[in-house]
Amino acid sequence: MAVNVPVPTRQISLSAPFRDQKPGTSGLRKSSKQFETPHYLESFIEASLRVLPGVAGGTLVVGGDGRYGNRRAIGVIARMAAAHGVARLITTTGGILSTPAASHLIRQHQAIGGVILSASHNPGGPEGDFGVKINGANGGPTPESITDAIYAATQQLDGYCILEDAPELALDQPSSQQLGAMAVHVVDGVDDYVTLMQKLFDFDAIAALLKGDFPVAFDAMHAVTGPYATRILEGLLGAPAGTVRNGTPLEDFGGGHPDPNLTYAHELAELLLGSDAYRFGAACDGDGDRNMILGTRCFVNPSDSLAVLTANATLVPGYADGLAGVARSMPTSAATDVVAKQLGIACYETPTGWKFFGNLLDAGRITLCGEESFGTGSNHIREKDGLWAVLFWLNILAKRREPVAQIMAEHWGRFGRHYYSRHDYEAIASDAAHGLYNRVKEMQPGLVGQAFAGRTIATADDFAYTDPVDGSLTSGQGLRLLLNDGSRVVLRLSGTGTQGATLRVYLESYVPPSGNLSQDPQLALGDLITAIDGLAEIKRRTGMERPTVIT
Ligand code: G1P
Ligand code: ZN
Repeated sequence: MAVNVPVPTRQISLSAPFRDQKPGTSGLRKSSKQFETPHYLESFIEASLRVLPGVAGGTLVVGGDGRYGNRRAIGVIARMAAAHGVARLITTTGGILSTPAASHLIRQHQAIGGVILSASHNPGGPEGDFGVKINGANGGPTPESITDAIYAATQQLDGYCILEDAPELALDQPSSQQLGAMAVHVVDGVDDYVTLMQKLFDFDAIAALLKGDFPVAFDAMHAVTGPYATRILEGLLGAPAGTVRNGTPLEDFGGGHPDPNLTYAHELAELLLGSDAYRFGAACDGDGDRNMILGTRCFVNPSDSLAVLTANATLVPGYADGLAGVARSMPTSAATDVVAKQLGIACYETPTGWKFFGNLLDAGRITLCGEESFGTGSNHIREKDGLWAVLFWLNILAKRREPVAQIMAEHWGRFGRHYYSRHDYEAIASDAAHGLYNRVKEMQPGLVGQAFAGRTIATADDFAYTDPVDGSLTSGQGLRLLLNDGSRVVLRLSGTGTQGATLRVYLESYVPPSGNLSQDPQLALGDLITAIDGLAEIKRRTGMERPTVIT
């Protein structure tokens, strides 16, 4: 029985505010060490609790991807939430909660928002990274107006409020507890999410597919999706034990880098691309919002994945009535645009980061959305959703009964192919990255009309976006060189890295259905790759012979 034990609130003074708490593309992301600096986490939470609307008397969701620091942070946030008058805190067993499941819990419980503890796909552990993401009442990342206000609050903070000497929360099983005047509900972080997936997808059809000769390999990368995938794939859908690999969340992700791409999920990639043993392979990232999709000897580029989901959506019960519209981030290829055009639905191009999809989803303008960075999602929540994408693909495969490679070939045969690649130069000196970037930016006005990779530069700009719902303007989102034949190169500096700077180069060219659809993307894009290096002097200025990650 919950007992209301009065616990004193304490006001802790800060000698000086922390100046380095500017949230990036997805929240505040720093090294675990920095988060262990006394009062560092508390400062950011204080600022967030002061800014988020409805804190006093409201419901707050808290959980994370299980990385080092997760449990400690939940304890701190709970004691601070109680001190700020939060009426009800919802957290999960073991503190394990994927980002998409958190989004769903916020929506389901009409919470004022949530605090998600994750540095997404960045490595974890004492030497790795930690992160805090603040989501709003719609379940999605808070808009820039809120993150800016939180940052401004951190700049002036002289102290914070926390419950003193409160007992530690028991997170081992579902329960109801009391922390001062605040009720704490510890729920199973997997249950509600699974119920939501069952509403959207044809579990019977997928189970029937998996019963046949259809071996699947899913790599949870020792991160948060392990318990979710095991329950869904091996439990409800009847896939054999062992289908889910690396399924136990570990504080340091087993020393790995839980980013589902060809570089960091190479074991899975080798299984699918180098043998005929599996029909389908997938992996998710640290906090479960990213996905990588593979078929036998076939890698599905995330931009293409969004296009395939769009083209096949009506095969899935949750989307059987068709789509209101779709959206993709600017650096994502235009493969989805072509499908949307044929379907006669709107297609929006937004800046990088999930928060820009939120307004479009809330306004009912779009149903599906995605990014080239292995993020795909829909109006079922307000975050991208890794396992959702995996189930969407399995549902399509269960209906079409064709190999993944054939689905891709048929897709390109119908819509044409957008050859696409992203080259990442990670952890480069900040000066070199900004120097290179600013130089191209200054060159840009003079580039229009110039020759580039045997074509002509038709437009050169720095991408800006006016939100069609609230009219807000977001500028400085990436340098674009749009060529006269529809191909393009984009340069962007990452907003999520924690070491130095990361330069991303996005390359894309379109081949119509009548063209050569089966080239290697790096070869198909070879002339663009050479031309952008010549223009931006990437190798010379970064000192790197090749990118860290090629997708
Ligand atoms: C990266 C991705 C971006 C994604 C973000 C959060 O951000 O490129 O698409 O929304 O992670 O997962 P970046 O490091 O490029 O700023
Ligand atoms: Zn993530």
